[in-house]
Amino acid sequence: MKVLITGGAGFIGSHVIEELLEYEFQVVSVDNYVTGFKENLCEGVKKYEMDLNDPKFESIFIEEQPDYVIHLAAQASVMVSMNDPYFDFLTNTVGTINVMLLSKKYNVRKFLFASSAAVYGEPEYLPIDENHSINSQSFYALSKHSAENYIKHYSVFNGLDSCILRFSNVYGPRQNEMGEAGVISIFINRLLADKEVSIYDGSQTRDFIYVKDVASACRLALMSEAKGVFNISSCSETGIEELYNKITELTGINTIPLYEPRRLGEIVQSILDNRRAINEFDWHVQYSLQEGLNETTRFYTNKRLSVNVEK
Ligand SMILES: NC(=O)c1ccc[n+]([C@@H]2O[C@H](COP(=O)([O-])OP(=O)(O)OC[C@H]3O[C@@H](n4cnc5c(N)ncnc54)[C@H](O)[C@@H]3O)[C@@H](O)[C@H]2O)c1
Repeated sequence: MKVLITGGAGFIGSHVIEELLEYEFQVVSVDNYVTGFKENLCEGVKKYEMDLNDPKFESIFIEEQPDYVIHLAAQASVMVSMNDPYFDFLTNTVGTINVMLLSKKYNVRKFLFASSAAVYGEPEYLPIDENHSINSQSFYALSKHSAENYIKHYSVFNGLDSCILRFSNVYGPRQNEMGEAGVISIFINRLLADKEVSIYDGSQTRDFIYVKDVASACRLALMSEAKGVFNISSCSETGIEELYNKITELTGINTIPLYEPRRLGEIVQSILDNRRAINEFDWHVQYSLQEGLNETTRFYTNKRLSVNVEK
């Protein structure tokens, strides 16, 4: 079985590839390396450097004839989306339509799309299930939800088997600590580098899911008969200040953070209901927050050590 992954060199993509290779799939990665890194791609994966909207993208489908497609490539920054909604739309909505059309044209058995909890906006109730109303509060959320709608309509009109996975806050090794989303990698890396950590209020909660659990969700969803929209989350909440305290314990570095007011528009509480994924493709969360944090801290500590040795 051959799986084509877009965004394979990114944080989540690189873990999905490892999961698929472990289960003996053939894997082809397509990435333009705008936020991903070639070093993230392990041995055994065939690599193409290409943009989603490049007219030559079709040649990869012709050459590879993939059985499945996992579409992860995206403009994943809320801030970039607010500064450049056109670029965000081109990548996340138009790019997705392109991959979706090619998937149908080349008879892909299933098309899986990475969406986000961001589409729900401010929760009306908790935990947020897949029937919760949509209230996009950024162009990122809007472009992801537009892409979802194209996939839903196209799947009905043209008979494409598809799954939309809405991820909560994903964390783990290889998350870009320069980005805005990875509060865990930001905290760990700033502490390890002896830099001050800012906490914006700290009482807000998030639903953190370890990246290896997300990778297994992608594999199981792909292999199942499941169709439609699924939350992929831990279905538990952790406060940001509580998270900071856990990380200081793990790193053994205990500096007093800089407390700042909560940022405008920031959601106070977030928990996503994950029962639909559990019921429909028998996915289960394998990593507790503590286990995930242990692995992530170990990864960044070793990374820093090896960089220092090289110096
Ligand atoms: N990280 C999270 O917490 C989170 C939460 C919800 C949803 N998601 C979604 O999961 C997916 C993966 O996110 P991530 O955190 O791994 O981000 P990432 O930025 O690490 O990975 C995205 C990858 O896509 C590639 N890419 C971007 N634009 C491209 C284009 N036009 N053509 C080809 N490749 C392109 C990048 O180079 C990168 O390798 C995204 O769709 C994101 O919206 C992530």
